[in-house]
Amino acid sequence: MDQSVENKKYAPIGVFDSGVGGLTVAREIMRQLPRERIIYFGDTARVPYGSKSRETIIRYSRQIIHFLESKGVKAIVVACNTASAFALEEIRPEMKMPIIGVVKPGARVAAGLTRNGRIGVIGTEGTVGSHIYTEMIHRHNPQAEVLGKACPLFVPLVEEGWLKDPVTIEVAKRYLSSFQESDIDTLILGCTHYPLLRSMIHEIMGEQVNLVNPAYETAQGLKRLLEQHDLVNDGQEAREPMYQFYVSDAAEKFKNFANSILPCEIEKARLIHIEE
Ligand code: DGL
Repeated sequence: MDQSVENKKYAPIGVFDSGVGGLTVAREIMRQLPRERIIYFGDTARVPYGSKSRETIIRYSRQIIHFLESKGVKAIVVACNTASAFALEEIRPEMKMPIIGVVKPGARVAAGLTRNGRIGVIGTEGTVGSHIYTEMIHRHNPQAEVLGKACPLFVPLVEEGWLKDPVTIEVAKRYLSSFQESDIDTLILGCTHYPLLRSMIHEIMGEQVNLVNPAYETAQGLKRLLEQHDLVNDGQEAREPMYQFYVSDAAEKFKNFANSILPCEIEKARLIHIEE
């Protein structure tokens, strides 16, 4: 085989989000694809993405993808629902490498999981307002009724690390009360920050509601994509560090947060100026 193609297999996967939320996807990739190296970028200077316009999210996503390309990644995971909703299809035609987002995989699982055809989606204002989950769910289950609810306060609460705080519980109860009368049996955690609130959401919604975390299916989809492009790391070469983390602000805070949720200890998160 061509040497450069062979070497490409050992290149890392680029993963990005507006902040710490995408770590829930990185964590799943680490579990399911333990031989794959990861370069993660968290746009901590510009979080949240959820309240920004489509144009802005496309511009941010392009900048980050260029940065990840400059690091020699072999594939990109858009580990952010808002960026997946607004930027993925816009940017895909410009890409020379495989790219995958989190919306399609999550929608597919939810469409298959529901028994009564009533699915809730919680996400940022951008994701819920884009109706992308409804569109994707209807590709698999045209009869499904999809109810969206934007939960914008969840992102700053998670970024602050208030995962079990009484304030967060109150906020969650208030947001989720909008599903009380709706009889949904499946709820998509349509923002990569929300799986960090999973047990709280589960307690509020009750046993009868399946919670869908698109991270698991995204990692599965990434595996298939790497196989299709003959890019699976067969583990023969491990010269470089397995996982590297970059952020646009507050590197120390990010590192501490990452260490509280990842299965491995990270030594540092490097600060970069993504606009330059
Ligand atoms: N974690 C992101 C998402 O999945 C974005 C949260 C935000 O920056 O508003 O949508």
